[in-house]
Amino acid sequence: MLKTVVLVSGGGTNLQAILDAIAEGKITDTEITAVISNNPNAYALERAKKAGAAAEVVRPADFPDREAFHEALLAKVKEYEPDLIVLAGFMVQVPMCLVKAFPNQIINIHPALIPSFCGKGFYGLRVHEAALKRGVKLTGATVHFVNENLDEGPIIIQKAVRIKEGDTPEILQRRVMEEAEWQIMPEAIQLIAHGKVKVVDGKAVISE
Ligand code: GRF
Repeated sequence: MLKTVVLVSGGGTNLQAILDAIAEGKITDTEITAVISNNPNAYALERAKKAGAAAEVVRPADFPDREAFHEALLAKVKEYEPDLIVLAGFMVQVPMCLVKAFPNQIINIHPALIPSFCGKGFYGLRVHEAALKRGVKLTGATVHFVNENLDEGPIIIQKAVRIKEGDTPEILQRRVMEEAEWQIMPEAIQLIAHGKVKVVDGKAVISE
């Protein structure tokens, strides 16, 4: 069983895609043991409770400084002894102590084809605004391991999504979620749960 902890901040549609894929048998041998949010109002926490997973909050405002928050988050994650940590719309820069404690065990979904439109400042709708501004014809989503550099960890799966005339950032965001994010995140977890992803020379290698 791949014990998985999911970190969230908002609506949690990617979390829901994972929970649905487990319920439908598209992800097997995997259990979401806890969902942890920095935001107590995240709807993702309701989704977790409905699915019978522990729903936890670790809120920066409850700690004297950033370091104390990071240590508390690490401690909370460790309580669940995860094999895999999934960042599913977690709007907090991942603490270095977490990255060091779980090398190649943390995955993130980014709503663009890395290395386009990623790195500092590229989050949420800003990613899609930048893609539309540049006039690219394809965008998409990327699932990657998290390393010490933002959006630079080994890429596991990418899926392209066509940009259409008249797209707004909001329309494009929704299409990228529907056509890419909600598919490739469950796919990546299923591959990891079955030992099919190895990191070799800084790149993820997928075996059949
Ligand atoms: C998604 O667009 C994801 O790519 C980004 O944050 C958003 C999360 O949405 N990292 P949700 O909370 O999963 O609905």
